[in-house]
Amino acid sequence: MFDIDSLLSLKQPHLAAQWEHWSEAKRQRFEKVFEDTSLNRLIEAIEGTAVAEEPTASPSIAPPHSIDGSDLSSPESLEALNQGMNLLREGKIAILVVAGGMGTRLGWPAPKGTFPVGPVTERSLFQLFAEQIHGLNQLSGRSILWAVQTSEGNHDDTQVFFEKNHHFGLAEESIRLFSQGTLPAFLEDGRLALNETQELVRLPDGHGGVYRAMERNGILQWFEENGVEHVYYFQVDNPLSILADPRFMGFHAKSGSEMSTVVIKKERPEERVGVLAEEEHTLRVIEYSEISPELAAQRDADGQLSFRAANTGIHAFRLQFLKQMGQTGALPLHLARKPVPHGGTPTAGIKMEYFVFDGLAKAKRPLVYEVPREGHFAPVKNAEGSDSPTTSRAALSRFHKRQLQSIGIASPEGEIELPFRFLWDEEGLRKAVAEGASSQIKK
Ligand code: UD1
Repeated sequence: MFDIDSLLSLKQPHLAAQWEHWSEAKRQRFEKVFEDTSLNRLIEAIEGTAVAEEPTASPSIAPPHSIDGSDLSSPESLEALNQGMNLLREGKIAILVVAGGMGTRLGWPAPKGTFPVGPVTERSLFQLFAEQIHGLNQLSGRSILWAVQTSEGNHDDTQVFFEKNHHFGLAEESIRLFSQGTLPAFLEDGRLALNETQELVRLPDGHGGVYRAMERNGILQWFEENGVEHVYYFQVDNPLSILADPRFMGFHAKSGSEMSTVVIKKERPEERVGVLAEEEHTLRVIEYSEISPELAAQRDADGQLSFRAANTGIHAFRLQFLKQMGQTGALPLHLARKPVPHGGTPTAGIKMEYFVFDGLAKAKRPLVYEVPREGHFAPVKNAEGSDSPTTSRAALSRFHKRQLQSIGIASPEGEIELPFRFLWDEEGLRKAVAEGASSQIKK
């Protein structure tokens, strides 16, 4: 497929110079990297012809319409809850977490899902999610399927963590780990980065790689064979994700949406969250690294940020839509200028990624569901400051205190932590407390 001339015309002189000296096996490895996305398309992206323009304040961009997920007692909300519960009981909902990120900002040397986030018990993110799934299994009488997306760099460590923890007591066959794909990295001048052994540097292809990775690793087939129709998707860094939230899943299912998304209110123009926007009847996320400062700061007459529907990274998919995206859905490439390893040294370069939320633009009847930040969003992203272990643990503790209050128990002083299987199951919590289960308390 490649030869010296084509590499030269693709502005890769350093590869053209080596091509003749490479073994057949090495050339094949090189060509395989471009199986899904042609080198030509990647170069076009670098040259700015294949990437989304930075959105500016234009009359065609508008905030999206959303459903108010904080009204828990309206007839629509109760109907959605009922529908979501039925889907769970029928085994039609599966859970998918993306955990392939490199977690550089947190500075945790292991996969992020192993981070000890429990405010009192220091239980890991993965364990808290597994406990929620236990609760859901109990409630639905099913063994809900859980797919975990990893990446080449953290797959084995994640696998070992699950095994060491005996899959957190969940049935081993109800969990599948699969690794996302990669994309090559570039130097700033558009040349492909190479490692010490002159192989292409490949980095995780972004959470948007999940569509292809699920298809390729048989996850969609596994879901289909088990009667799954909808998939609840979330990010590993948010311990307050309400897994398979039946109310959200109910709204998603009854609206006929192919892809739905949960949003919260963005607090400050500079907060590092993407925001939902509608442009020419298409729903999209404008990423924090891509939004213009003017658009980020634009306010409505009542003083609220106009573009305040912040992406939580929680979505719901129809399985059919995932299948379609896995087979044919071409996503735009997003570029980040950051150091990439070249010849073993971090060098100014360009990393490319696909974003899962670009699926929204391709989905029929996409739905936006707004929930309060409290009780839904407390990510662990940075070592200190906002979205750090400290803020996340405090939010978990506040949430559990509110849970106790909601069943009429005065909340104790200090940080507390309840079993996570009762994250939203008030009835279950009441019963457990009556049977003597107590919260863990740290003064
Ligand atoms: C992300 C969203 C942002 C949203 C915010 C909410 C993007 C580009 N932006 O920002 O709109 O408001 O979360 O918390 O996602 N991951 C993979 N593979 C990858 C890269 C990431 O599985 O190749 C996973 C990570 O493990 C993590 C999630 O995707 O669970 C989010 O990735 P991260 O890069 O941390 O997103 P943010 O920049 O925080």
